[in-house]
Amino acid sequence: MMSHPIYNFCAGPSVMPPEVIAQAAQSLKHYHDGLGIIEISHRSPEFMQIIAESKADLTQLLNIPEGYQIIFMQGGATGQFSAIPMNLLGEAKGADYIQTGVWSEKAVEEAALYCDVNVAANTKGNRYTTVPHQASWQLRDDAAYLHYTPNETIHGVEFTWVPKVDVPLVADMSSNILSQPINVSDYALIYAGVQKNIGPAGLAVVIVREDIIKPSRHPIPTIWNYRKMIAEDSCCNTPAVFSWYVSSLMFKWVLAQGGLKAMAKRNKTKADLLYAAIDATDFYHNPVEAHSRSRMNIPFTLADPKLDAEFLKKAQAQGLYNLAGHRSVGGMRASLYNAMPIEGAQALVDFMKEFERAYG
Ligand SMILES: Cc1ncc(COP(=O)(O)O)c(C=O)c1O
Repeated sequence: MMSHPIYNFCAGPSVMPPEVIAQAAQSLKHYHDGLGIIEISHRSPEFMQIIAESKADLTQLLNIPEGYQIIFMQGGATGQFSAIPMNLLGEAKGADYIQTGVWSEKAVEEAALYCDVNVAANTKGNRYTTVPHQASWQLRDDAAYLHYTPNETIHGVEFTWVPKVDVPLVADMSSNILSQPINVSDYALIYAGVQKNIGPAGLAVVIVREDIIKPSRHPIPTIWNYRKMIAEDSCCNTPAVFSWYVSSLMFKWVLAQGGLKAMAKRNKTKADLLYAAIDATDFYHNPVEAHSRSRMNIPFTLADPKLDAEFLKKAQAQGLYNLAGHRSVGGMRASLYNAMPIEGAQALVDFMKEFERAYG
């Protein structure tokens, strides 16, 4: 039996609040009339209520204005890499993309299957360690939309500002949705795979301003068709009911914590703790330019990479799980999503200091 609490720093699927897990476990056994949540129809009044409440709670959390629709779709965020060009291109030939990490790179590759993609800025040359100034972007005149990734989960690069463009702004918020208040009307479309800050994998949340959905020159499969999904309240087919249910619990949890302002405060405290520990020594290093550092995903390296395995082993023994960096970049990465308590970030910082004392 481990004597330490477990803190899970996984980038996704990731830590969930214990209260949400307990409620979900209970509902698996019994949700209504002796049946578990995964045993009832998605057309039942009980699931209809989950749908209605999840939309109402998300609307309240993000203060979503009139004119926007919320869609819950399967296929994660990667499904949206295709759904976005399918639904937004209309008669346009192409779109602008800002490439600041592996996820926006994948979004570019997928969109290129459907249209002429203009990569208006690309920071691959500096190993994805910065956010490019908007003045340097090479935007095209006839773009249907501009796509960017406000937080790059692998490289730990986050925009602290919202681009101002004349075309609909599309944001992949998979790894920073609900982490701080935003002004939804700055965006035409926000999407996120839920498995980081919201719930179990299997769903994407799409918040879309309805007027930007364009009639397509090509047929759109029903499950990727925003208009059909909106008309059927995201139930053109059987939705990912468990994932959706747990997401609805998570929305209520965030509201109960004080909403996005409270999340932002906690997230800043956690990130500040960890960056201060990294910056205080040459033993650890974060490569990201100071003004582009992510509050959610913090990659760092050890001065001697030969110590990586030992660091991970000792961390795990102290209940600090899933700190290995993404396989494409190596080193370490700590993901500090909403459900990570401040105590978790503190425990990591304490361990890092202890490890440095022993091996530095
Ligand atoms: C920013 C970002 N976009 C897209 C994805 C892909 O999400 P999914 O696995 O749900 O397709 C991820 C996954 O980690 C991500 O972090």
